Amino acid sequence: MRDRRILGLIALACLGTTQCSPTASPAGAAVPLADMHENFQLAVELRGHALLGDVGGARETAQRLSEVTRRASVDPPTAAWENNMEALRRAAAEGARIDSREGAAEVAASVAAECGACHQAESVDLGDRFVVGGPPPGGSAGRHMARLTWVSRLLWDGLVGPSDRMWDAGVEALLETGSFPAELNEMPGVRGTDEAWALLKRLGEDAGEADSAEARTRSLAEVWATCSGCHANIRP
Ligand code: HEC
Ligand code: HEC
Repeated sequence: MRDRRILGLIALACLGTTQCSPTASPAGAAVPLADMHENFQLAVELRGHALLGDVGGARETAQRLSEVTRRASVDPPTAAWENNMEALRRAAAEGARIDSREGAAEVAASVAAECGACHQAESVDLGDRFVVGGPPPGGSAGRHMARLTWVSRLLWDGLVGPSDRMWDAGVEALLETGSFPAELNEMPGVRGTDEAWALLKRLGEDAGEADSAEARTRSLAEVWATCSGCHANIRP
């Protein structure tokens, strides 16, 4: 455990530099946490592109994620580990075909599900480490978006954990969000706020019924496609 934590620190120090390669973990390291952190950042970036509706950004980020995943391994390699890494790589490689907002949302959600599949196989119980946190207070347009971003992160944690606790917290938070503040309608390009909230609410109810990774992946992709449907008109 202590060694892993040290590796984690090395990984953080390496982020954003060209000095250390992601495969440069010491021989015999149980988990290439350096790779893990790099993957984690790219998957988070991909999530951002998906919900904002940046199709090109999503395509490029997913491809970068598939490249770093190709290089990730453990020493000594186990069949289960390699299979899960390969499943993640394939999900990210689908990103090369992203040509719509919906496609971006689907790839981002299926990547999160593959993260979760390995954590489950490795009995990591990541969900226990995730923190629900408090909702930013609603109200103004900016704070409403901050709240929806929190909802989105909770649902993502539910898939990545994988964690029923985080998924359920995300569903509850979504259903309690309420309609968009009126001031949003005055912003250039914004339309259909009532319809968007009605749709998000219905998707939240569906998400509450979704109890498999597949169903949750579809749910989250639909939520993100709804976010990006409005963002595409305003380019925040
Ligand atoms: C092939 C297996 C595998 C895949 C794929 C995988 N992980 Fe992990 N992940 C692990 C293991 C094992 C640990 C536990 C390491 C530990 O105990 O600190 C872990 C730990 C983590 C942690 C906790 C790190 C910490 O410092 O507490 C995060 C966050 C994480 N993974 C995110 C992701 C994300 C995001 C993805 C997908 C892009 C992903 N993982 C894909 C196996 C995997
Ligand atoms: C009906 C339209 C609409 C919907 C639906 C919508 N948003 Fe937004 N969003 C906006 C507007 C307008 C802005 C720009 C706000 C501003 O400039 O203050 C924005 C901005 C954002 C930003 C960027 C904030 C920043 O400072 O860059 C994030 C993140 C965000 N929204 C998250 C979400 C999430 C997550 C969802 C879905 C769960 C969502 N939004 C759904 C209208 C919408």
